Amino acid sequence: MDHRLKEEKYRQLLPQLASVIQAESDSIANMANISACLKETFDFWWVGFYRVLAHGDSKELVLGPFQGPLACTRIKYGRGVCGTAWKERRTVIVPDVELFPGHIACSSASRSEIVVPILQEDEVVAVLDIDSRVLNTFDEVDRLYLEKLAGMIRL
Ligand code: SME
Repeated sequence: MDHRLKEEKYRQLLPQLASVIQAESDSIANMANISACLKETFDFWWVGFYRVLAHGDSKELVLGPFQGPLACTRIKYGRGVCGTAWKERRTVIVPDVELFPGHIACSSASRSEIVVPILQEDEVVAVLDIDSRVLNTFDEVDRLYLEKLAGMIRL
């Protein structure tokens, strides 16, 4: 997608999502609507959230609200793109998933990916994961706006 068109779409979408989030205190409802709006706006292959939840004595990422095909339900710390974004507490952009060591292939159609951590009180509480069927989909424009969006979400 053209750079300016993409930026324009994010500029229109973010205030809409901000009002959705402000109007509703339930985070599951908000993550569901955010997934739907991102998928509708950009026609991404898969958009969704994984929450950091307790699992015995440790923690795991557990699948939350999403839009797209069936996905793996649990991801361990440091595993795959999602677990890496959680561990390194930073956005991870993967231009070609086949070149990312340890990438977890939930769908063979996915070719590129971005994962943005959601932090609360300095802890990663969830990640926003987006997959594309096209190589090299995600860039600094996506990072900028998706990090802004992640900053609005309260779990
Ligand atoms: N590819 C991700 C797993 C989640 S699915 O893409 C929905 C990863 O490597 O962490």
